[in-house]
Amino acid sequence: MGVGSLHEESNRVTVVSGIDRDVLAGKLEVELENFVVSNPRSQALFARSRKSLVGGVPMPWMMRWAGGFPVFARIAIGARIIDVDDHTYIDFCLGDTGAMTGHDPEPVVRAITDQEKTGITTMLPTENAAWVGEELQRRFGLDRWMFTLTATDANRAALRICRQITGRPKVLVFSYSYHGSVDESFAVAGPDGTTVSREGNVGPPVDPAQTTTAIEFNDLDALEIALATGEIACVLAEPAMTNMGIVLPDDGYHDALRELTRKHGTLLIIDETHTFSAGAGGCTRAWGLEPDLFTIGKAIGSGVPAGALGMTEEVTTRMFSQQEADYEDTGGVGGTLAGNALSMAAMRATLAEVLTDEAFEYTIPLATRFSEGIKAVVNEHGLPWNVTQLGARAEYRFEDAPARNGTQAHEASDPELERFLHIHALNRGVLLTPFHNMALMSPATTEHDVDRHTEVFDEAIRDLLV
Ligand SMILES: Cc1ncc(COP(=O)(O)O)c(C=O)c1O
Repeated sequence: MGVGSLHEESNRVTVVSGIDRDVLAGKLEVELENFVVSNPRSQALFARSRKSLVGGVPMPWMMRWAGGFPVFARIAIGARIIDVDDHTYIDFCLGDTGAMTGHDPEPVVRAITDQEKTGITTMLPTENAAWVGEELQRRFGLDRWMFTLTATDANRAALRICRQITGRPKVLVFSYSYHGSVDESFAVAGPDGTTVSREGNVGPPVDPAQTTTAIEFNDLDALEIALATGEIACVLAEPAMTNMGIVLPDDGYHDALRELTRKHGTLLIIDETHTFSAGAGGCTRAWGLEPDLFTIGKAIGSGVPAGALGMTEEVTTRMFSQQEADYEDTGGVGGTLAGNALSMAAMRATLAEVLTDEAFEYTIPLATRFSEGIKAVVNEHGLPWNVTQLGARAEYRFEDAPARNGTQAHEASDPELERFLHIHALNRGVLLTPFHNMALMSPATTEHDVDRHTEVFDEAIRDLLV
């Protein structure tokens, strides 16, 4: 997920995307009208839900769908969603990564159905927990694991642990990164380099400048300066940024990040919640990263609430050598349902049978096909847009070259154009994530699905360029 209000962002003046704004506004209007006409049941359910739900949706971010109201899902299976108006969509959103496995993969459905019959939550470990711990060790290389219900919670716990064991007050994040609803992460580097609250930050407990140093991704000088203060407990980083388009690290960036964090006694947390798309061992395995702590959620349980936090043996030794820190009761790290038997069963089935090496051997070429399809259309029409790919994930942006940091990516967004492309696709049976232009491939996605997206994308561009 990315954050920010659609309406606020819509007002921002836009970049050079090569599109005539008046044509865009007119075409958007037509697509929105068509959307309303063809979705009467979703519209009625939305009207009904508005009387009981905040904003008419279970969570406010669901207001963000391009049509002004979301389609209400009836069935999600494989790479398809069927809505209450009986439209079938090819789903490239995949629950914003929660369903990177495809919806309802059979091994997971089997495992959770069996588990439901034998206990959902007991406050006792199951054999599945041991299996999952061993598998996570094997895949990502970290020695010890604990579980949460979400990636947000894994990150929150990781930050607390890092502050506790280093005795340092601050966390370093990259401008326009997103790590879930984690207080410390809603900060960006202001124009003068000082850390400021990210726009739209809801009721921050304290000014984020007190808890956080924000710098730009790929900026090693800023990193060195920040770490040299000696006040940074940990860096919380995605291996590649994924919540403002995909921002890839420069060559050698991760080696330098690791070297500098070690030099300054700062711990490194790698958050692979989205970058798990890079392969069965995420970027950590693919790029040989050596984090001190590691967080993940979403797809790891095929969408059944599950998150995991890994750490090196050194980190656990430091944790348990501090008698004053309470990890077993009310110390601030935990959750009653975390590690429940249902989540563990879902994680085991996902790791054993769904998000395997073979699955990524299938999905990554699909994302390449998806990217190539977009590039061909963009080139044909001479648009100054770029496409980036990270394993099974691909995304296009309205700039000629990929951004090197979150601020550049943020400045290159074009909410109105995005909205048009999303609603145009939705009206033709293709579902993209409401956040930027992310598309994800699952083991259930086919080449035909990808080619259909290319076709619809081409049609949208032609429509805009008439
Ligand atoms: C990189 C990253 N980490 C953590 C999270 C939080 O995941 P959740 O909202 O499932 O807790 C997100 C959500 O989009 C994310 O993108």
